[in-house]
Amino acid sequence: MLVAAFLTVLAARAAARYTEDWPSLDSRPLPSWYDQAKFGIFVHWGVYSVPGFHDEWFLFDWLFRQPPNQECVDFMKRNYPSGFTYPEFAPHFSARFFNPGDWADIFKASGAKYVVLTAKHHEGFTNWGSPFSWNWNSVDIGPHRDLVGELGAAVRSRSLHYGLYHSLCEWSNHLFERDKKSGFKTQEFVAHKLLPELYSMVVTYKPDLIWSDGEWDAPDTYWNSTQFLAWLYNDSPVKDTVVTNDRWGSDLRCKHGGYYNCEDKYTPGQLPKHKWEKCQSVDKQSWGYRRNMKTSELMDLPTIIKDLVETVALGGNYLLNVGPTSDGMIPVVFEERLRGIGAWLDVNGEAIYGSKPWRIQSENASLPVWYTSKGSTVYAFLTAKPSKSIVELLQPKCDSSTEVTLLGHQGPLTWTPISADGGLYVLLPELSQSVSQVWTIKISDAK
Ligand SMILES: *[C@@H]1O[C@H](CO)[C@@H](O)[C@H](O)[C@H]1NC(C)=O
Ligand SMILES: *[C@@H]1O[C@H](CO)[C@@H](O)[C@H](O)[C@H]1NC(C)=O
Repeated sequence: MLVAAFLTVLAARAAARYTEDWPSLDSRPLPSWYDQAKFGIFVHWGVYSVPGFHDEWFLFDWLFRQPPNQECVDFMKRNYPSGFTYPEFAPHFSARFFNPGDWADIFKASGAKYVVLTAKHHEGFTNWGSPFSWNWNSVDIGPHRDLVGELGAAVRSRSLHYGLYHSLCEWSNHLFERDKKSGFKTQEFVAHKLLPELYSMVVTYKPDLIWSDGEWDAPDTYWNSTQFLAWLYNDSPVKDTVVTNDRWGSDLRCKHGGYYNCEDKYTPGQLPKHKWEKCQSVDKQSWGYRRNMKTSELMDLPTIIKDLVETVALGGNYLLNVGPTSDGMIPVVFEERLRGIGAWLDVNGEAIYGSKPWRIQSENASLPVWYTSKGSTVYAFLTAKPSKSIVELLQPKCDSSTEVTLLGHQGPLTWTPISADGGLYVLLPELSQSVSQVWTIKISDAK
């Protein structure tokens, strides 16, 4: 009997193993922490933070793009001796003010539930002492520190999840260039650099999320993505908790993988069937730090909060990016935005965290309204200051047990039904001047 039961358990386990193909890998349920989290912080930090100009594609746009970006070429001519090479930026990636605890405090205060750091961007520089990236990593050169490990420890000690961004392609890797010339028939780069490094990164840092990128040049069969993901989901130390995105081979975005990013800053027009994430950057022109950014080029707080609300109403997670300086500071203007989101979430977070999309995502009677829900509670976000003290919500169906409140305000609000078919008029209290310009009406017991 016992042996039979044991064998049944073993068989069930064996049956639950994922195979190296998309139908099997796509069938894996997304670990639940991710959908509940809703809001994360993205951090782009690397050697590109040293020129701190143009964006994190600086190397590519200066030297590899055809024709090269003239702004980058001129910037180098004006500011650096001729013959200066990109690797010469690396010793100036000092991280001298980098205090991982300070960063993690800011991220925690933003109300984010996860943090995703660029462990390796397309320039190939690893922010940890990768033995597969000799002399092109943050321990051999520049900071002489394990940035991935240090930030991970600080973030996790504040109960935030920790994810790693990882680029499959590398712009100036000669093995990758050779494979490319063969039409990706050879896998020298994949066999000797990419996979050993990626497996080692997972085993060493046990990321809760792998934000894959740089996949566009080659199919998943070149990157051996399905083989890697089968290992990740079956046998890796993070097999039960890890979440991944959809950038694992050319033409796979929005089709295969864990959750979908689709394109950068992508917003679907209506509620998607599949879990997705919108990545967005406070600096609208760059993911990496730019020394010459201007206030007018940044997202302001109300715009960020509206974007977060719209994304969550449409079933997505919101991953908001900041680019730290090469000496390890989060620019104070970014810090101010993040603390502003946190202050808003302190009041309105119950309508965001752990919420589900409602049967209707938005309406626009008196003003643009977005909805989320939790059981029989419906949350209506007012994304502009109402011009009158009575707002009209057309979609919720209420009855005598319905109670209406405003998050952050004491006591119930007066309301009346619009018609027998549904809808309600809500009498608002005096709205305090709020820098965020988004208010949440909570409707308990509505359909
Ligand atoms: C990629 O996967 C195939 C099929 O399992 C395998 O034959 C090949 O050796 C793998 N390549 C690398 C570089 O790991
Ligand atoms: C809401 O309606 C107003 C007035 O008709 C219109 O100007 C505005 O663009 C609408 N907003 C949205 C988000 O649909």
